[in-house]
Amino acid sequence: MSELDTLREDLISAVDAAADLKALDAIRVETLGRKGRITGQMQSLGAMEPGARKAMGKALNVLKDEVVAAIDARRTALEDAELDARLAEEWVDVSLPARSTPMGRIHPISQTMEEVSAIFGDMGFVIAEGPDIETDWHNFTALNFPEGHPAREMQDTFYLPPKDDGTKMVLRTHTSPVQVRTMMEQEPPIRILVPGRTYRSDWDQTHTPMFHQFEGLVIDGSTHMGHLKGCLIDFCKAYFEIDTIKLNFRPSFFPFTEPSAEVDIACNKKGGHLRFGHFDDEHDDWLEILGCGMVHPNVLSNCGLDSSKYQGFAFGMGCERIAMLKYGIPDGRSFFETDVRWMKHYGFMPLDVPSVTGGLSS
Ligand code: DAH
Repeated sequence: MSELDTLREDLISAVDAAADLKALDAIRVETLGRKGRITGQMQSLGAMEPGARKAMGKALNVLKDEVVAAIDARRTALEDAELDARLAEEWVDVSLPARSTPMGRIHPISQTMEEVSAIFGDMGFVIAEGPDIETDWHNFTALNFPEGHPAREMQDTFYLPPKDDGTKMVLRTHTSPVQVRTMMEQEPPIRILVPGRTYRSDWDQTHTPMFHQFEGLVIDGSTHMGHLKGCLIDFCKAYFEIDTIKLNFRPSFFPFTEPSAEVDIACNKKGGHLRFGHFDDEHDDWLEILGCGMVHPNVLSNCGLDSSKYQGFAFGMGCERIAMLKYGIPDGRSFFETDVRWMKHYGFMPLDVPSVTGGLSS
């Protein structure tokens, strides 16, 4: 066997034995590279007799073509095998159930905001908003709190340092200043619901320094106390999802309403469980849920409305409080502790669209 035949056999069997593309490339360099075995042979042609050089040159070219073809064929085979291996490994079973992604929960405050807004929305109320940082005037003075009146301190107000012009700013202690802002901007008829954050320096099981309230305001030429009662009774039935709910309108005092009332719902605490409505036996206690009243004529005139022409009612209630009562949440501080386990327990599934009757379904 000639020397070239041996080289051919050597090279072709090395190419065929290459286990992967990297090994194949190494063989290509060893054979056809600058210092490769065939390249070396080609370089030695120069020193040969012209006759022998011609014959040898031709044979080397044939060999080179054969080796190049063998490398190409092996490369295609290796690439195909690699693709087959990947396809075998990476196939997708489209019949498998989707991998579950952890789903967040709607916070009970957001849920309650939505539920209450939906109920009053159905009664024709529109949402109104105002700033969290209020002037002392909007938060107190316009609402008929006399200057230096202890009620201002009673609300445990967070005061900001006074401005150069003497204006005192506060973190609003209630959503009532939005009543003032609305009456100053808008001619009656007015029918607004104000969900919003409020602030007081307080911290115990039922108080947090930041909390949420709903404020309601209805002003026109003829709205009276009967409308106030009807509206709040309908709201409580819808919100607590209890048609037989029993309410008590108890006379009270707020500087911005006259007459004023607080609304209590009848409850039964027997056996350590808090229940409203549908009692087998009589209720044994009352729970206060909101404050309300007919808008004080001073407030109307402070806001530029003629109190001989316009009248109406207002109400205010704590969002955390009514959420705690409806959903059996024992500690108000837990709303703001951002505990994921708590959210899993008390939160709502995002795809349950809040509605008048939707709250308890999740
Ligand atoms: N602003 C009162 C508070 O935070 C609640 C309130 C009572 C609002 C009676 C009203 C109302 O609009 O009429 O304690």
